[in-house]
Amino acid sequence: MKVIVCKSSDEMSKAAARIFAERIKKKPNIILGLATGGTPVKMYKELIRIHKEEGLDFSNVRSFNLDEYLGITSEHDQSYRYFMNTNLFDHININKANTHVLSGVAKDPAAECKAYEEAIKKAGGIDIQLLGIGGNGHIAFNEPGSAKDSRTRVVDLTKTTIEDNARFFKSANEVPKQALSMGNGTILEAKEIVLIADKTSKADAIAKSIEGSPTEQVPASLLQAHKNTTFVVDKDAASNLKKQYEAPTSGCCGCK
Ligand code: PGA
Repeated sequence: MKVIVCKSSDEMSKAAARIFAERIKKKPNIILGLATGGTPVKMYKELIRIHKEEGLDFSNVRSFNLDEYLGITSEHDQSYRYFMNTNLFDHININKANTHVLSGVAKDPAAECKAYEEAIKKAGGIDIQLLGIGGNGHIAFNEPGSAKDSRTRVVDLTKTTIEDNARFFKSANEVPKQALSMGNGTILEAKEIVLIADKTSKADAIAKSIEGSPTEQVPASLLQAHKNTTFVVDKDAASNLKKQYEAPTSGCCGCK
């Protein structure tokens, strides 16, 4: 795996946005795998800037998001569909019909998950997948213990994840207890993966994922088996790493 350690969260966001922008330029009808949460917000802002100032064209881009809370509608301000619209899609020239987010209110959630897997396959598979990481090492909502070959399915959220995400709701009680999530197996089929992380709260999970033994107890460590994965982290998230890793070069990061 490639590891890029950036000196700040801003630089991490710009470095990751630059990787995505380069891939989109190279393949205008690219299939993106997208993520939500606090970490990608500045990266999406940077992609919006690149679209507005450098003309990055999203008109033929298609996307699939990692996950969605079960039981909340796409209009709910904490739904991941709402997040994607407000943080990215409303500000670029992507065709919303080409953007896919699992429905949290599907009548048959298992059928929704199966159809999502089929839609990804039919599109030709994900070219580049963005990931955040939970403090417990989860990727998407694949909590510790999720099988390495798991597929898109309904999952129970752990207490830690509910507490971590309570900051976006009025209280932890309001955080849904279940979600629909791509599986570890689904994610590992992406042709390229970029995981971003900032803050010391991620340092333990980052160290275990990069330098620990691969284990389903730390789902992000399963990425070690993937052929084309890059971790882009800031120095806080890198603070528990023992080895030295590369800094972004001027080619990959617009801020140098
Ligand atoms: P965060 O979440 O970006 O809000 O820290 C990441 C995750 O839980 O995957």
